[in-house]
Amino acid sequence: MSSKLRVIAVVAAACFAQGAWAADAKNDAEMKKLASASGCLTCHSIESGKPGPDGMKPIGPAWEDVAKQYQGKPGAAEFLTRVVLEGSSPYSSHWKGKVSGLAMPPNAVAIKETDARSLVHWILALGR
Ligand code: HEC
Repeated sequence: MSSKLRVIAVVAAACFAQGAWAADAKNDAEMKKLASASGCLTCHSIESGKPGPDGMKPIGPAWEDVAKQYQGKPGAAEFLTRVVLEGSSPYSSHWKGKVSGLAMPPNAVAIKETDARSLVHWILALGR
């Protein structure tokens, strides 16, 4: 293949991958695997409207609800990456009354910063 053709092929592949990303965010197996391996799914569901254990309010907010809550807010990805790594405070819960957990414990022990950032970008894309 000539180098020019190769460039076109790479660009086309990248465009295709992006389209697939937007359409299939909910079914992103790699992100689900990462979330599960990092322990996130013990407290979070991906889809909104699922009850928590014993039919109580879920422990943490469904990630579709997180996506809606932060949609279009500048700096949301950076802010949420910090919350995921460092946890939130029970004295100023961000989801007070909506979930049964008072705060999220720091996850930095369970997940690398780059992985936390990828998960947050994926979570924010769930609202589209
Ligand atoms: C032990 C339970 C628990 C685990 C494990 C957990 N979370 Fe949470 N998470 C919560 C709770 C509770 C909240 C709501 C915090 C609040 O109201 O301040 C929350 C909130 C969030 C939010 C929204 C934060 C905000 O400020 O609005 C995101 C995003 C999130 N979690 C992502 C993750 C990711 C990614 C992981 C895995 C690396 C994870 N969580 C693991 C319980 C958990």
